[in-house]
Amino acid sequence: MLYEWNVEPGHVLTHFWENIQILHRISPTTERMAAATSPRFNDLVANAITAQAKVPAEQIIILDNSDKYAPDGIKSQQPAAGDDSLYQIFGTMANMNHSALQNDTSCAGSHGPSFRAVLLDAATQLARLVNGRRVRYVELGPEPWKSSTIITHLLAAGVQLTHYVGIDINPESLSTMRDALVPIIGAGRFGYLTADFYKCSADDIPGPPSSAGPDVDYITIVTNLGFQEGNDLPGNIGPMLTRLTRTGDLLVSEMQVWVTSSAETAESFIRGFYDHPEMRRQSGLVGRQFDPTCSLVPGEGDDTEYVIHLVPVQTEVGVVKVAATLISASTARSGVVGDDNLWLVWNVFTGDSPSVERSVHWSRRRWWFERKEDISGKGEYNERFIPPFHNVLANSCIKYTTDQFNLARETTGKFAVRKVLETGDKSVIFQIAGRV
Ligand SMILES: C[S@@+](CC[C@H](N)C(=O)[O-])C[C@H]1O[C@@H](n2cnc3c(N)ncnc32)[C@H](O)[C@@H]1O
Repeated sequence: MLYEWNVEPGHVLTHFWENIQILHRISPTTERMAAATSPRFNDLVANAITAQAKVPAEQIIILDNSDKYAPDGIKSQQPAAGDDSLYQIFGTMANMNHSALQNDTSCAGSHGPSFRAVLLDAATQLARLVNGRRVRYVELGPEPWKSSTIITHLLAAGVQLTHYVGIDINPESLSTMRDALVPIIGAGRFGYLTADFYKCSADDIPGPPSSAGPDVDYITIVTNLGFQEGNDLPGNIGPMLTRLTRTGDLLVSEMQVWVTSSAETAESFIRGFYDHPEMRRQSGLVGRQFDPTCSLVPGEGDDTEYVIHLVPVQTEVGVVKVAATLISASTARSGVVGDDNLWLVWNVFTGDSPSVERSVHWSRRRWWFERKEDISGKGEYNERFIPPFHNVLANSCIKYTTDQFNLARETTGKFAVRKVLETGDKSVIFQIAGRV
């Protein structure tokens, strides 16, 4: 069977088997569709979902980690003119951070420090560890709310900032970051690299502006916030962070972790995060690259399915839990991934007869209908087959335990953990490490 079809009682598909086989020959969808290169981590995640939840492998569209943020990331994407999905994706993350920082009880548990309190504590610790040296602040995957809060706090604590450099594969973040940070640090200290951080090294990151004076001595604080370290295997992240830093630099990373008090509690925090309206909106934006009707915004995309999976994946630090979200997308409808399929549907089912007017419809029940209408105007609908239907792996993020995360830091790169700060509910940590 090529697809796991949602066959409704009374519908018989066997008549169309021959056509489906033609489809298969031209578009070999038994091979997993990968929209980009080397998605090793996401391959492992997809395999784990297939094993655990029995989602057929060929139904899962795997994106490389950065695909959803890069302008050319989804290779077959053909965005309509004026498509602003990258800007919107950036906005979903910024909105989540904004609300987490504004809410005094966010992640606080019953009595503990809130998310905001822990973020400020991490900034205090950074100011202490800097120990009077001047600081270049490098933000991987920038976002405006946390960075402006941390930088304001560092400056208030007397840290002398040479300059800020944001590194993002998504060019849409630049203007928001400039608007957020220039009022705090001044235009002369704001820098940006639109680049893939896997392809950068410490030498590629701009040094202090000339206004900082000649041969200024400084260390770099690198931030890797927003759980983004969970988007890849530790064996890929550790060397990347090592390349981006020099001995003595400080690295701060924010992660949602697998709390060890109980599996039920751990799961509920993680599911709560992926169920957040902004995370759902973000997944919908990713799915929309494949199916224009895809959306998880209430009132839109009524038949879009969204499933949060928690699966075990073997990594360099042992088996870790990975949170992954699958969003349904009818790939044929968009003519994007299912381009061949769509073409074939037209040719197989509509033939070439000039006496037949044709259109192919897609129903909310995921059936293809072919409307055959002869020149006398009589029309009929025939069910044909369920269209190429896929699940897009919209998010995948490792949820280490705190111990696993510290192990990853110290064994997959040249770092020593200096401090770990956790929110009151223990679901989010800020880990500060020094580059050795
Ligand atoms: C999970 S989001 C986190 C955003 C932000 N750090 C936060 O705290 O909310 C990941 C961010 O990293 C950026 N990103 C992902 N892969 C990247 C890559 N290979 N190179 C540069 N930036 C990347 C994305 O554009 C996005 O802004």
